[in-house]
Amino acid sequence: MSESSFPAWLAAQAADRANRGLTRRLVHSDSEGLLDLAGNDYLGLARHPRVVAGAVAAARSYGAGAGASRLVSGTLSIHTELEQGMAAFTGFPAALAFSTGYHANLSVVQALADADTLIVSDAHIHASMIDACRLTRATVAVIPHNDVSAVAQALAGRGRRRALVLAETVYSVLGDAAPVADLAEVTAAGDAVLIADEAHALGVAGPGGRGLLAANGLAGRPDVIATGTLSKSFGSQGGLVLGSPAVREHLVNRARPFIYDTGLAPAAAGAALAALRLVEAAPELTDKVRRNAAILAEAVGVGAPAGAVLSVPMPGPREALDGVAAAAEHGLRIGCFRPPSTPDGVSRLRLTAHAHHTDENLAWAAKILQLIVGAP
Ligand SMILES: Cc1ncc(COP(=O)(O)O)c(C=O)c1O
Repeated sequence: MSESSFPAWLAAQAADRANRGLTRRLVHSDSEGLLDLAGNDYLGLARHPRVVAGAVAAARSYGAGAGASRLVSGTLSIHTELEQGMAAFTGFPAALAFSTGYHANLSVVQALADADTLIVSDAHIHASMIDACRLTRATVAVIPHNDVSAVAQALAGRGRRRALVLAETVYSVLGDAAPVADLAEVTAAGDAVLIADEAHALGVAGPGGRGLLAANGLAGRPDVIATGTLSKSFGSQGGLVLGSPAVREHLVNRARPFIYDTGLAPAAAGAALAALRLVEAAPELTDKVRRNAAILAEAVGVGAPAGAVLSVPMPGPREALDGVAAAAEHGLRIGCFRPPSTPDGVSRLRLTAHAHHTDENLAWAAKILQLIVGAP
């Protein structure tokens, strides 16, 4: 094998990852029977009989796939029902559904920014937003995590350019909340638009799981747009952009990851709609996941999280991986984040709370976690 051949290049890349302790592996969860503190099915709805029945009924009515882009023939009444339901739940006037949350983020940023736009982005923003910025050719100012005055400064120095501010309301790796009220204030003062990703907030934060924009009276403001996913609390698959009818109309016309993509699969839409109805009818699910998150946080000695995600710093990537392996040996599935997925270079265990875990589950998990990270 010549040193410059493609197989040699792949092997060198794999060896380099292995040397740095950064090899990623696919994780199977269906056959191992571990207690899950890693997945994002926070409310335990992915296997809820009514959610599964929603998927089956939608597939029976509309077929296995939408069959085309939403702009060709792929818009189904289940999409419209889901969009109207999600808009009403979150307090926004309009919503648009996407095939993933990743596509929702790519779409909203790509469609609203161009080379003349300034994008002010939190350093801990999700990879989908980072990739979205790359699609726009906009100038991007990355500001330290949750630093509202740095956002204000970046906006003030931009001249006449349009500007977008990107944040997550509950951060996917750190699990902390953005100072959304302050961010919205500086965004408005700087004549910009706030795009806030509620992927880890919907279903677990805010009144009845309506998210942190609703909690702060920001849902429905014309200069605030939310994104979300159907793949976490709603137990399904798909993404959302929530905003004004004008924003929705603009995305339908300009968002390439929406226009050139097949409409959300009917089963995913049907499942998400059934999950939404369950969340609306049972706000105690949100209370339960937050309570379980607080119990786990106390067990591992970190502060109570803003949603369901707990972040436990580890000395390095190998220790984080060893922690995941040790937990699995004991029957517990936990996750970890290592550089380059952590912008501050800190490796972390990532634990997620779930509404359906019992007190016995949590007491048992706490003992194992304390073996790994030490008792607080
Ligand atoms: C903050 C955040 N935004 C967006 C996404 C993408 O959502 P989806 O998995 O539905 O593509 C994720 C995670 O997967 C996420 O953590």
